[in-house]
This record gives sequence, structure tokens and C-alpha cells, in this order.
Amino acid sequence: MTGTTLITGADGYLGRRIAAELLNGGDDALLLAVRAADSGELAAKRDLLAAELGPSAAGRTSVVPVDLRDDDAFGPVSPEAVTRIVHAAAVTRFNVDRDTARRVNVEGTVRVAEFARRCRNLRRFALLSTLYAAGRRSGTVKEERHDDTGFVNHYEWSKWAAEEHLLDSCADLPLSVLRLPTVIADDDGGRVTQYNAYHNTLKLYYYGLLSLVPGDQGTPLHFATARFTTAAVTRLLDPAAPEGIYHVCPDPPHNATLGRLIDTIFEVYERDERFRRRRLLRPVYCTRASFDDLVEVAEHLKGGPIHESLGSVSPFAHQLYLPKQFRNDALRSVWEGYAAPDPVDLFQATGEYLVASRWGREEGVPR
Ligand SMILES: NC(=O)c1ccc[n+]([C@@H]2O[C@H](COP(=O)([O-])OP(=O)(O)OC[C@H]3O[C@@H](n4cnc5c(N)ncnc54)[C@H](OP(=O)(O)O)[C@@H]3O)[C@@H](O)[C@H]2O)c1
Repeated sequence: MTGTTLITGADGYLGRRIAAELLNGGDDALLLAVRAADSGELAAKRDLLAAELGPSAAGRTSVVPVDLRDDDAFGPVSPEAVTRIVHAAAVTRFNVDRDTARRVNVEGTVRVAEFARRCRNLRRFALLSTLYAAGRRSGTVKEERHDDTGFVNHYEWSKWAAEEHLLDSCADLPLSVLRLPTVIADDDGGRVTQYNAYHNTLKLYYYGLLSLVPGDQGTPLHFATARFTTAAVTRLLDPAAPEGIYHVCPDPPHNATLGRLIDTIFEVYERDERFRRRRLLRPVYCTRASFDDLVEVAEHLKGGPIHESLGSVSPFAHQLYLPKQFRNDALRSVWEGYAAPDPVDLFQATGEYLVASRWGREEGVPR
């Protein structure tokens, strides 16, 4: 096919990778929408994308400024040529405040939907959402629309609300909602170039700044690599794949648990001389009530390492007490050649990378 794919958040971690994959594996022109405060930031982002995407980008990509907070966010973009939209832009911090999450993730999605409606040749409109749009429910989670069962943080709520808006208002568009797992490494080798709450929490354990594990040992975890996630997204962007809701995640039996993660990571840490010298004990699991008490006490202490470390863990900790198994039947039915990374191998490879590179501070780590 030859058309034009618009990617919002095109300079983000996944946006860049999806752009690269579409350049290599297809012949669409790409409209790369980026947030830029002024012409200087736009030029810097354009240069960065050109360097990252390489010679295949020349002549096939245009970078356009789109700030989803603006009423006229898509003013500079012509809808005529657009045949596919990948809506990747979002504020992705788990500790985002409600107002920012609403403005960017919810109202921004409303603006993308309004633009999509003006694209007369649209053949696929994909929202990148999260598995945790499921919120506080536990048990088996199907690839279907969710009721509001409450959310652990404003990020989750905003991704669910964005889904709901599109599922309500864009039923006549070729819409797919792609719920992604948390990406913890670029690829199976464990290299990390985007650090998130997962890596920051493991760092607290490594340096002895956190000695408790919130959550139940048996809670399944849903992590993947950028390579797996990007391959799935590009596969689902093919207009030949049915529209719908997809869980982009490894098969349910292939998820490891929180207990397995902690064991694997501490095995990696305990092989490291600098970690062993600190003589740290493995952390202990705590109940939800005692974790909440601790967070409350830390709130009163204001500042200091305990307050800071709990502050980075608490926005997602409650999910670790809410075991879920995500069905991925729809994904499996359309993706021949599906190959998810083995979760324990991935924990180990990523842990080794983090330790060897000291969470990215030490360059030149051989892999
Ligand atoms: N990576 C994951 O583990 C993961 C897991 C589940 C779901 N997802 C979803 O996948 C999508 C991509 O994630 P990612 O990891 O690539 O996130 P990311 O690296 O944080 O990138 C987000 C992108 O959105 C842009 N953005 C933020 N505010 C904006 C605004 N007001 N207007 C326009 N653009 C704005 C950012 O630009 P600036 O940086 O310049 O603000 C950036 O380009 C997101 O929708 C996320 O919710 C990701």
C-alpha cells in the first residue's frame, strides 16, 4: 500500500521506533507530529528524528508541530493525504496530575479524533493505550471495553477515558485500541534506553533505599520489549487486520510473577561485587495496609530518601495487589510469527544491563 501515516508523539520512545519500522517495512509517507514550544525546539526535534531514522527518512517524512493542548492542534496538517493515524502522544508518567492527564491524554485524544474524522481516506486509526486501562479490576481481563472500576493513578484513568471517548464517538471509523504492556527494554538483550518506574524501583533495591516489596508474590507481571511491542503495533496497523481492541502482550501462561521478578533480580544483584559489599538483605513483602501506612508516615516526613523512594513507587504499587491475566486471543489470531520474549530471561537480561551500566550512567557496557 502507499499512503500517508500520521504518528503523534513521533519523537517519543515508541513513536520513533514505529516510524523506523514503517520506513523499513512499508512504503507509506510519514507525517511525524511532535510537540514543540517554538521553532528552535521544532528544528532540534527534526534533526534528532533525521539522525535516528537515517537515510530512509529523506523524502518520505515530514515533521509537523502538534501540541495536543492547543484548540487548533492540527492546524498545520492537511487531512487529505492521511490514510492511517497512530496516536502515540501522551504524558506517560505514572505520577502525572489529574489536570495534565485530562488536558493531554483525554482532551488531546478528542482532538485527534476530530482530525481523524476529517481524513476522508482513513483506513486505520490506532490508539496506543495501556493494559492498565483495566484499572482496579482483577482476574481475567478480555480484549473488550472496560467499565470504570476505579484506577490506581491518573495516568491509567486518562488512558481509559481516552479509549472510552474513541469507542463512543468513532464507531464509524476504522478504529483499533492497542493496549500495551510496560516496556522494560529495547530488545531481548536487555538494553534500556527509556527509564521508567520499573527501572527506578529496581534501582532503589540495588542501593538499599527500599526494603519492602508492595504486592503479592503471585501477582502476574506484564512486561515486554520495545521490539515486540513495535512489531505488534505495525502488524495491527495493516488495514487488513481487523479493527478492534487488542492486548499487545505475551500469552497469559508466559507471564512471570512479582515473586519471580524479585528472585531473578536479586540473583543478578548478588553476583555483583559492589552490591555484595553492601550486605543488603532481600526485601520483604508487605500487605497493602502496611504499605499505605508507610506512605502516610513518609508524607509527614516530607523530603529525604524514604519519602522520595516511596513517592516513586506508590503511584503504581496498588496494581501489585490486583492480579490480572490479560487474554490476547485477538492479537494471536492476526499475528503470524508472534514471538514474545521469555519473561524471566528478560528480567535477567535487563537486570544485568542495569547493574553493568549503573542504570545507564556508565557508558560502553558490552552486550
Ligand atoms: N512505553 C511503555 O511502556 C508504554 C506502555 C503502555 C502504553 N504506552 C503508550 O504508548 C504511547 C507511547 O509511549 P512512549 O513510551 O513512546 O511515551 P514517551 O516516550 O513518553 O513519548 C510520549 C510522546 O508524547 C509527546 N507529548 C507529550 N505531551 C504532548 C502534547 N501536549 N502534545 C503533543 N505531544 C505530546 C511527547 O513529546 P514531549 O516529550 O516533547 O513532551 C512524546 O513525543 C503512549 O500513549 C503511552 O501511553 C507506552
